[in-house]
Amino acid sequence: TTSQNAAPHTEAAPLAELPITRPTGCPFDPPGELARLREEQPLRRMRYPDGHLGWLATGYSVARAISADTRFSSRYELMHIPFPGAEGVTLPPAPVGDLTGIDPPEHTRYRRLLMGKFTVRRMRELTTRVEEISAEHLDAMERLRATADSVDLVEAYAHPVPALMICELLGVPYADRDAFQHHARAATTTDLSVDDQYAALAALQEFVRELVVAKRAKPTDDLLSDLTTTDLTDDELAGIGGFLLGAGLDTTSNMIGLGTFALLTNPEQAEALRADPGLADQAVEELMRYLTIAHTGVRAALEDVEVDGRLIRAGESVTLSVQAANRDPHRFPDPDTLDVHRKATGHLAFGHGIHQCLGQQLARVEMRVAFPALFTRFPTLRLAVPPEEVPLRSDLTLHGVQRLPVTWDAR
Ligand code: HEM
Repeated sequence: TTSQNAAPHTEAAPLAELPITRPTGCPFDPPGELARLREEQPLRRMRYPDGHLGWLATGYSVARAISADTRFSSRYELMHIPFPGAEGVTLPPAPVGDLTGIDPPEHTRYRRLLMGKFTVRRMRELTTRVEEISAEHLDAMERLRATADSVDLVEAYAHPVPALMICELLGVPYADRDAFQHHARAATTTDLSVDDQYAALAALQEFVRELVVAKRAKPTDDLLSDLTTTDLTDDELAGIGGFLLGAGLDTTSNMIGLGTFALLTNPEQAEALRADPGLADQAVEELMRYLTIAHTGVRAALEDVEVDGRLIRAGESVTLSVQAANRDPHRFPDPDTLDVHRKATGHLAFGHGIHQCLGQQLARVEMRVAFPALFTRFPTLRLAVPPEEVPLRSDLTLHGVQRLPVTWDAR
């Protein structure tokens, strides 16, 4: 409810900038300052690089409430950007097919069309395929290990398994990956300028458009062909297809890479999973919570909204620190400990509200297979380099590892 007289409170000085530096020595922890801010004031004012006086949400309940509230918009063009270097940056409206950057009713129409294609049942049916693909890649790793001391887990496993799955689901030939992988990565990294990101997305959509045209003429048994029977135009299909390809490629692979890194540096947790593969479901939720690879989101208030006794004015931006929310001790006791026995459901790592991840059941199926398969196949799996030498992905929106050199005792 909107109120003219939000509860009185002592206003701390606005935060001068969004903390983004992770603590040295623990690549899995959020920037340390976020914990202090969350304790002090889970929703507080923050100065954005363009001068805007907006907000930062670090507490679980405020981040969840704002995510669920459609009085906050997801439209890119309404947002102020909280990241350093964003002084002169304004985002154009979301390209066609990008669901995360639009609001109802446009969002509702796309979401309804796609929801029916991403059912839990349909994704579970893919389990056997994930098992086969994982096993093939573990075999290949074993062959690599015969001639090398270490193997890059990202290249050999964490990347190709989800890439093959999303390709099969959409009906994109994996053999053509050289034509789209580069664009897909470029479209989702904040290491590039906004113009370059949008250009990469346009190239990706061009690639998908050709497929869509072919599938309209000669449908195959896949999601893109399936979608050609709806009232979506070729532009919309190319947009949605390109977006799904981008969303399905890098996210899950970052989780498998970073998740393996976390398990290898918490060997008792890896051991628990190895001893009881039945723990996989909850281990995956805990890894999602603990790592929160999609660590930050932004919303813009469409009207005055009162949240937690604070009045957020129409037009103001709120940065959601999902990584801080998922480490909130009021929601998850002892939050900085990775504990695969924990019931971590309710975490916000797939988002929350109308934009909650559409591919989450697919991602879950992939991770529930990929982690136990890897750890049972190679019981002596370990890092091949000291942990501080593992190159992290230094991105403003997605956390992960670039490479993960691993080794094990060859049989
Ligand atoms: C949305 C994370 C895997 C497709 C989201 C959101 C998050 C997220 C946080 C919400 C964004 C927002 O609120 O603005 C993840 C993570 C994944 C993953 C961490 C892997 C572990 C996937 C996969 C697919 C996918 C495999 C594709 C098949 C989507 C789509 C949306 C979305 C289409 C937009 C939904 C909407 O706006 O209505 N994802 N995702 N994701 N994700 Fe995922």
